[in-house]
Amino acid sequence: MEYTIIFTLFSIFTCFYIFIIKTGNQKPDNTVRLPPGPYPLPIIGNIFKLGNKPHHSLHTLSVTYGPLMSLKLGNTTTIVVSSPEIAKEFFLKHDISFSSRSIPHAADTHDRNKISMVWLPVGDQWRRLRRICKENLFSVRQLDASQHLRQEKVQDLLDYVQECLDNGKAVNVGQSATTTILNILSNFIFSIDIAEYDSESSQDFKELVWGLMEVGGTPNLADFFHILRPFDPQGLQKRAIHYTEKLMAIYEQHVGQRLQERAELCSSDSTSSSKDLTDVLLDISENEKSSINLDDIRNLLFDLFLAGTDTTSSTLEWAMAELIHNPEKMLKARCELKEVMGKKDGSTCTYIEESDISRLPYLQAIVKETLRLHPPVPFLVPHKAINDVEVQGYVVPKDAQILCNLWAMGQDQNVWRDPQRFEPERFLDIGIDYKGQDFELIPFGAGRRMCPGLPLADRMLHLLLGSLIYKFNWKIEGGIRPQDMDMSDKFGFTLHKSLPLMAIPVKV
Ligand code: HEM
Repeated sequence: MEYTIIFTLFSIFTCFYIFIIKTGNQKPDNTVRLPPGPYPLPIIGNIFKLGNKPHHSLHTLSVTYGPLMSLKLGNTTTIVVSSPEIAKEFFLKHDISFSSRSIPHAADTHDRNKISMVWLPVGDQWRRLRRICKENLFSVRQLDASQHLRQEKVQDLLDYVQECLDNGKAVNVGQSATTTILNILSNFIFSIDIAEYDSESSQDFKELVWGLMEVGGTPNLADFFHILRPFDPQGLQKRAIHYTEKLMAIYEQHVGQRLQERAELCSSDSTSSSKDLTDVLLDISENEKSSINLDDIRNLLFDLFLAGTDTTSSTLEWAMAELIHNPEKMLKARCELKEVMGKKDGSTCTYIEESDISRLPYLQAIVKETLRLHPPVPFLVPHKAINDVEVQGYVVPKDAQILCNLWAMGQDQNVWRDPQRFEPERFLDIGIDYKGQDFELIPFGAGRRMCPGLPLADRMLHLLLGSLIYKFNWKIEGGIRPQDMDMSDKFGFTLHKSLPLMAIPVKV
């Protein structure tokens, strides 16, 4: 053990030494006019400016240096975008130039940079994967056809909450939402439940997903100093490999089992209504050989579970926390639900359906306000410049990493009145939506790289949140008053509540 530490330290010092020699020989490039930013220290640059809440620290820095800012994080030039105007320049005007990804070292395993939709550069294979998802998972037709499935899984969640109510037990809102969302996805993909409420086995799958998210959100020396990559000084890539292999093994098992069943039953020509996404993908792989292979399928499933679970469940947790923290907003939301559901079919309907969402403007405003205050992916997934680009008279150099600070944009007093307040009403009179057209609110990104899962996330969020507040009243565990709740956040790949929301359901 001691030898490992000594070896690691020795390697780091050697690398620093080589790095100093290398950079010492480089003349500064005065021809490149980078956007303004804090003065970088030798070697480390501005790393120490990040702190443990980089979205807050970079927001503070942007107040001094402006909404287009540059930093040096180790040897990585990082450009930080903090206003809707600059975001529009990046993801509308120069979208193609900024459409590549800056791949974190921890994610750079198993050739994911060459296979995964999240990390591939914009090109034929990336387009093919996006098209497959759009047509077979996220189209209105597909989403309408799979509505019953989400309804069933929401009912499972409501049954679980009822059980907690009967036993006087608090619900861990984020964890329960994760279970529901995993099962919505796994039923659509494999036709089975992959997670259970309060069970050991579901913890396994959830912990693998959470583990990877945690690794992805930890600042990594190997990302700041590429020369350290072979040493993986914090062991983050090693941990990522461990989680990735375990998750891949689960997908491999399911896909393998399905291949066997198909071979036995010769069921590849079964009616399309009985097919889940695994069947659809295997059909595509068999019929269009050049399109996707089994490795692509496993990686696609990996991406969908990973990108879709934590983002959606943390949004739901924040929305519930804000409503409990602001009881008058909760009351208003429940009044709207009661009124709309009361009018449905002339009698009080017992459950909410996706077709009701369009008649619930206050519920929609709550979701928007939650995503403004607590963007789940606070910097987007880091983009990378493909070439030098001139923006507002400055140069964003080729290979620079681009962080779009959505959290700072949500706090901008020039855009939002009383930005710190949870005020869904602000969205009732303005036409701002999060579909990528209004750059004031882009929690799903905008342009080519925008989240493909938005249509599904949109339905799940409204259905889950509406159902939880229509069916139950909520209070905080331990007799904490709403105004005393801890509402602080914790930085990671997704922006979580520091303290998980433990809420006690109460009969309405
Ligand atoms: C509240 C829920 C969600 C939020 C806030 C969210 C947000 C985002 C953001 C910000 C990006 C990166 C955009 C960029 O870099 O410009 C992204 C990418 C992505 N999201 Fe989502 N997402 C959510 C749910 C989902 C769901 C449910 C799925 C699928 C089941 C999904 C799949 C993906 C994938 C595959 C990518 C990578 C796309 C690419 O690089 O081409 N997301 N998401």
